[in-house]
Amino acid sequence: MNVLEDFPMLNRDLIYFDNGATTFKPQCVIDAIVNYYSNYCANAHRGDYEISLQVDVAYEGTRDKVQKFINAKHREEIIFTSGTTDSLNMIVNGFFEHVLDPGDEVILSDSEHASNVLPWFRLANKKGIVIKYVSLDDNFHVTMDAIRRATTPKTKVISLAEITNVVGDVRPIKEICEFAHKNNIFVVCDGAQSVPHKKCDVQESDVDFLTFSAHKMCGPTGVGVLYGKIELLENVDPVKMGGGMNESFDNENAIFLKELPMRLEAGTPNIAGVIGLGAAVDYLTKIGMDNILVEETNLKKYLVEKLSALSHIDIINEECDSGIVAFNVDGIFPQDVAIYLDKYNVCVRAGNHCAKILKKALGVKNTVRVSLYFYNTKEEIDSLVELLKDRDKIMKEMI
Ligand code: ALA
Repeated sequence: MNVLEDFPMLNRDLIYFDNGATTFKPQCVIDAIVNYYSNYCANAHRGDYEISLQVDVAYEGTRDKVQKFINAKHREEIIFTSGTTDSLNMIVNGFFEHVLDPGDEVILSDSEHASNVLPWFRLANKKGIVIKYVSLDDNFHVTMDAIRRATTPKTKVISLAEITNVVGDVRPIKEICEFAHKNNIFVVCDGAQSVPHKKCDVQESDVDFLTFSAHKMCGPTGVGVLYGKIELLENVDPVKMGGGMNESFDNENAIFLKELPMRLEAGTPNIAGVIGLGAAVDYLTKIGMDNILVEETNLKKYLVEKLSALSHIDIINEECDSGIVAFNVDGIFPQDVAIYLDKYNVCVRAGNHCAKILKKALGVKNTVRVSLYFYNTKEEIDSLVELLKDRDKIMKEMI
């Protein structure tokens, strides 16, 4: 896909394969942010003057864009947060803390990111809910059979990433929702690694809550989204109280909160971030999410094919379907591989990638991870493979 001109970071001697961590930003996103700070910098929802009204139009305009992007039924179902972590914490602490009882079960998997594990652990400690893990198959997939096996009459929530950040398996969220809802189970979907890469339709999947981050989809850091079905969001207790979310309060502690979405967006929001997210959504929409998926699938196939030809490379997740490839180089510590590649301006991530329970299923604690995005190219993959093809060279140079 020829988008080289769109991204300032692509026009340098650098190969970037760490898109699971964060993505590069196209100039249009950078411009939208600079334009806000340069030409209409004011607070949102508070002013009665021209530039503040301009801010409201841009800020609320992003809500409409995100609504359309994930096909939410109502604009009030889109809550701006600081990112996926914030979104997940908001619903675990502001909703599930109130609706779950001691002994209720929440299903997670071994490959969840810390953000979709630790808030639940906190709730388990605080409320006595029980965490269960759906088993992974030999290729690290979550199957419907495994979901059925993990479910008991006490199961109240299934909380899973749609695409996981180390092995990149894609979960059947729609089927999971269908099964879960028949059994009165809520479904929480961590979309941090999926919403940037494939078309998302919350009405089609019928997911109850969806969370994602702008910075993994060409947008700025520090902003994310919590989607929830309106009837559920109405019952989310705001874990943050402050300006912008209350209608009135008095010195007798009588507080009247605003309606959604404002009720869940206390304090001055990340206005520049939200405006940048709006520009990112426009940009991705223009390219087309289906085109992005096709491009990444082709790149992933190409990368796996090339790496498989190297006998000293062990690909961990060959059978997984997204643009994430985790591997190890025989006898070399993953961090050393990353440092070696960095000498040649190739950026990959090495380590456990915040998915610390996964080591049991993987049989290794750490891996090298290549996470692709649509702006990567086959030529970049060729350069990576060229650098990895001689194990002795890596050994020699990393010392
Ligand atoms: N969650 C991000 C990653 O997978 C930071 O790299």
